Amino acid sequence: MDSLRPELFDFKGVSMSRYFTDNWENIQNFQARPDDILIATYPKAGTTWVSYILDLLYFGQISPERQTSIPIYQRVPFLELNISFEETGVNLADRLPTSPRLIKTHFPIQFVPKSFWEQNCRMVYVARNAKDNVVSYFHFDRMNKVQPEPGDWNSYLHRFMEGKVVFGSWHDHVNGWWKKKQSYSKLHYMFYEDMIEDTGREIDKLCSFLGLSPSVEEKKRITDGVQFDNMKKNDMANYSTLTIMDFKVSPFMRKGKVGDWKNHFTAAQNEEFDEDYEKKMKDSTLQFRTEI
Ligand code: A3P
Repeated sequence: MDSLRPELFDFKGVSMSRYFTDNWENIQNFQARPDDILIATYPKAGTTWVSYILDLLYFGQISPERQTSIPIYQRVPFLELNISFEETGVNLADRLPTSPRLIKTHFPIQFVPKSFWEQNCRMVYVARNAKDNVVSYFHFDRMNKVQPEPGDWNSYLHRFMEGKVVFGSWHDHVNGWWKKKQSYSKLHYMFYEDMIEDTGREIDKLCSFLGLSPSVEEKKRITDGVQFDNMKKNDMANYSTLTIMDFKVSPFMRKGKVGDWKNHFTAAQNEEFDEDYEKKMKDSTLQFRTEI
């Protein structure tokens, strides 16, 4: 399995691995449909959580068997994924029988295929504070055999600060999508911390963006179903069916908390990170909460 681990390289100014660039032409030529919904995130910001919420909102009632038989990563294809033993994200999306199609990407804004803009598709972006995001990404890279070797925590943290991890700089990613939101009205920008604080409230906001009005019972069913402990034990949502992930190293549904960074950052690392963060985010109006 270890031979699967790829190298990181510069791809059009963004650190990437071959698993997300090899299918570039097909990805860029992907034909979006007007009702497609693109779920976009920097890795480990809550992609699976929001994907599952959207899937339940659209298909929870009309096809309940989907919930017990199809893993979330097949219901919501990962557009740029191209690993030899899985169907490519593009193919999976092309033959999705559902409408709307829910499609996931970790691309920075400039890599999004142009048909999504041409078709004026709705997009949901989830951002998570940088400190918890890097901790989650570190543990993910330890357990996921198709990610580059993470090395030790201190070196990983420094590479994250430099944007030398797959999908590049966190700062550029959250800011790039945030800027786009100012001009593209069909983009709903959410925060992981808000979802933790009040999942029901954030589902309401999502519904009003999507023009959905689930009944009170349905909304309760969804809000309960997507709580961390329920998703953790749900084999269709917890990635336990994917062999590239070694859950003995770290589970996919790891902690699901705001503030776990405090268990990882030393005082010195925190100071250095804050200083670097201020420089990189000085022109941004984005505000993140590192505790709630
Ligand atoms: P942690 O590693 O901090 O636990 P993604 O889906 O983008 O890969 O993000 C994964 C992160 O979201 C993991 O964070 C995971 O535990 C967390 N997560 C997934 N489902 C969640 C839920 N229902 N509630 C809270 N956090 C959740």
